[in-house]
Amino acid sequence: MENFTFENKTKVIFGKETHLQVGREVKEYSKNILLHYGGGSIKKTGLYDRIITSLEEEGIKFHELSGVKPNPRLSLVREGIELCKKENINFILAIGGGSVIDSAKAIATGVLYDGDVWDFYTNKATPEQTLPVGVVLTIAAAGSEGSGSSVITNEDGWYKRPLDTDVIKPAFSILNPELTYSLPKYQTMCGVTDIMSHIIERYFTNVNQTDLTDRLCEAALKTVINNGRILLRDPDNYAARAEIMWAGTLAHNGLLDTGRVGDWATHMIEHEVSGIYDVTHGAGLAALFPAWMRYVKNENLDRFVQFAVRVWDVDLAFDNQEEIALEGIRRFEKFLSEIGMPTSLSQLDIPNDRFDEMAKKCVEFGPIGNLKKLNEADVLHVLKHSC
Ligand code: NZQ
Ligand code: ZN
Repeated sequence: MENFTFENKTKVIFGKETHLQVGREVKEYSKNILLHYGGGSIKKTGLYDRIITSLEEEGIKFHELSGVKPNPRLSLVREGIELCKKENINFILAIGGGSVIDSAKAIATGVLYDGDVWDFYTNKATPEQTLPVGVVLTIAAAGSEGSGSSVITNEDGWYKRPLDTDVIKPAFSILNPELTYSLPKYQTMCGVTDIMSHIIERYFTNVNQTDLTDRLCEAALKTVINNGRILLRDPDNYAARAEIMWAGTLAHNGLLDTGRVGDWATHMIEHEVSGIYDVTHGAGLAALFPAWMRYVKNENLDRFVQFAVRVWDVDLAFDNQEEIALEGIRRFEKFLSEIGMPTSLSQLDIPNDRFDEMAKKCVEFGPIGNLKKLNEADVLHVLKHSC
């Protein structure tokens, strides 16, 4: 196990009706806030009205910035920064999923920075401070409600880039699984895939002796697989929604990678795909992961065997180790199809004519991944074998 520091500053408030206490939580930080949300789902479901009532009950003044798109854009972040400065706003309430939360985190760091917020996403600067961000989560997927990450797309060149620092972890996150009932099935399953991907990125490490976190990852994966299947046939099942939502937060709040070094190459390749083609992140991951796995499996065959046996119940009596590993990958791929995910880029209507450009952009800051370091040619290989 590697040395590590684990700190988790995000207060999690979990369960039925918990969104009704949002005003009380916000009041601890500010009486003049920015309400940040997406394209309108929260108005359709009535969540918006309930949040407003709770804020008004506590005498909290709010300004609004809506219109966050999936794969959130830098231009709206800049608009948010200007608005916060103009109105002396010192708290941001994000109501939505990863896109809204990431946009809120970007605004929160940009307000306190004299330069251009994009500097944080291009390794030119690191934020040392941020306005506090609170979250009411409406989709279990990205894990941004507990993570120290924000992923923003710069429309100038369609660069989708992450910022990773614990400074931007939310102050609190309200997680009510009931708020996810209104999600379309496809969006729910994209979330299931993203959650599994966050665990898998951490699971495939070359660090030895990570028994505890291996087992935690395997338990989280099995939980998401079982409850994802329940949601396929029974989308209003509260228990299954709750398991998936909590797994989504734990998958990405740093706990599961304590003492290990994750891979993250597939996420970086996916960011190139969704940066240009604007596909849903979880679907993009589903299309890429099987090809990445087949490409890198021999770097650490034992780990792929362990994944096959412990997560996918592959029989150890199979002919040889490589066959066991491949069977694990096949079962993962089959599960993705079962939940309605694409398992190739062509299923997402992504042509192959910009693969060179994507591979080049992907390694802009050097080789990616850790299980196997991928250079431009490797990334191109994964893209081509994802067709
Ligand atoms: O915009 P509205 O109208 O709210 O609709 C949203 C959006 O269209 C809809 N939605 C959300 N909750 C709903 C709902 N529709 C009905 N009922 C509800 N309860 O779902 C759509 C997708 O929302 P989005 O926030 O984009 O989803 P997700 O949480 O999957 O976030 C994806 C973004 O997060 C980034 C991804 O790259 C992508 O940009 N990620 C962020 C990470 C992080 N910050 O730690 C890590 C991830 O790996 C990921 O990269
Ligand atoms: Zn992800």
